[in-house]
Amino acid sequence: MNHSAVLQHWKAGMKKTIRKAVLPVAGLGTRFLPATKAVPKEMLTIVDRPIIQYVVDEARAAGIEHIVFVTGRNKQVIEDHFDMAYELEDTLKARNKTAALELLEEHRPQPGSTSFTRQQAPLGLGHAIWCARDIIGDEPFAILLPDMIIKSKVSCLKQMVDLYDQTGGNIIAVEEVPDDQTHNYGVVELAEKINDNASRISNMVEKPAPGTAPSNLMITGRYILQPQIFDLLSHQASGAGGEIQLTDSMLSLMQDQHFASVKFEGTSYDCGSKTGFLTANIAFGMDDPALAEDLVPFMREMMQRPIAAE
Ligand code: UTP
Repeated sequence: MNHSAVLQHWKAGMKKTIRKAVLPVAGLGTRFLPATKAVPKEMLTIVDRPIIQYVVDEARAAGIEHIVFVTGRNKQVIEDHFDMAYELEDTLKARNKTAALELLEEHRPQPGSTSFTRQQAPLGLGHAIWCARDIIGDEPFAILLPDMIIKSKVSCLKQMVDLYDQTGGNIIAVEEVPDDQTHNYGVVELAEKINDNASRISNMVEKPAPGTAPSNLMITGRYILQPQIFDLLSHQASGAGGEIQLTDSMLSLMQDQHFASVKFEGTSYDCGSKTGFLTANIAFGMDDPALAEDLVPFMREMMQRPIAAE
């Protein structure tokens, strides 16, 4: 469906507000073993907050009212993190630790605004999203991959919702990567421009062979999708790695529906990788002047060291 057809569709009343977001957290986090043997990858901390808290904050800043966590075994602590910690809060109250109490309250979602469902086996990202079908129902929704955190002035998802409010359809966040890195990512092929930062997507390729990528724009782990994706996921055969891939169903949906990319303003950190996790800690740590004061001399000293371990 081309851009003007989508606009007509939208004007005909098909567009609905994005109220719900799915956060798939059922992966095994094997790249962080042994840290992730008993602690979910999403609960590792960037400075003083677990990774998942940054992603929930991004979703709430975009106006999301309900978050669906797709969890797995050993992930109960995520549910506890977003609940009231009654004994702790009572003790803080008794000790007049008002600032700490306010911090906990600020980060706690409203009662009834979260749901938890289990992906019983890690059969792939597409399968994890499909597990949220009944809770999402028949409305467009957002997906945020929680190992990707994005540092930006305006929430990345909010930037996507702003485009969605104009175009409807399906929206994918993208960012530029060096040409020699495209083979590590899902990459989009673009058609006509919608505005300076947005274009219609005509194709997507998962991990293209070096030199064959249709662009240098990687899919960053933020999506707004129409609910028809669930029908496609229901019948989706296993793809790359023997897993049910979200990209395969999105490609089928693209036959009938409009997809647009947003080149968002901000920097992403892939906290599923050790490099991304460490750089995120430095980048977010530098935002705190007291930490920056200690970090800068330390980093200067580190810069003097040879790269290879001695
Ligand atoms: P990844 O493959 O990057 O994460 O999936 P992983 O499997 O947790 O980590 P590694 O590769 O073993 O270190 C991207 C996102 O999709 C979720 C993961 O939790 C992660 O947030 N996911 C992946 C699921 O929820 N279920 C799956 O079956 C696969």
